[in-house]
Amino acid sequence: MSYRSFVVLTALSLALGACSQPPVVGTFDQTATSGLKSGEQVYQNVCIACHSTGVANAPKSGDGERWRELIAEGQSVVTAHGWVGLRGMPPRGGQPDLTLEEFARAVAWMARSSGATWQDPDAALLAEIRKEEKKRIEELGNKSQLDDASYRP
Ligand code: HEC
Repeated sequence: MSYRSFVVLTALSLALGACSQPPVVGTFDQTATSGLKSGEQVYQNVCIACHSTGVANAPKSGDGERWRELIAEGQSVVTAHGWVGLRGMPPRGGQPDLTLEEFARAVAWMARSSGATWQDPDAALLAEIRKEEKKRIEELGNKSQLDDASYRP
């Protein structure tokens, strides 16, 4: 295992420490850096660990009831809040190597599986998400989530 995979795995196992049965989490193939991961790939590699069964009250993918409220909040807000982290949701899903674009694709994929029509973000939407991210960081004030070692603006 490369040092890099080890770091990623360590970060993930820390993030998943609260889970009663540690889910099996894949790692990204670091040699395949040419393209961005699809939303589904990111979901299968990272988010599935909590969002398939609803660990720590994570909104389950496919749970239309639960996602209805999130969908109403809007794609940029919900993506930014997940990216920054809230309560049991670690910043970036505990995967520090994820780009915002890949993270946003995974959110869109989960939302689509739960009734939304959200698409992979384009440049305009990414800029909106960045704005919401800044707002959220200011709102958090005490920056408790941002002390997480895995958070990099
Ligand atoms: C360690 C478990 C865990 C992992 C891994 C995880 N999440 Fe979450 N996620 C949560 C929990 C718990 C919540 C609910 C937080 C709350 O509202 O209390 C959540 C909430 C969210 C939300 C809703 C944010 C909002 O505005 O309410 C989004 C979006 C999200 N996660 C996206 C993702 C994506 C995308 C991934 C994969 C890259 C991911 N999560 C990986 C635990 C996780």
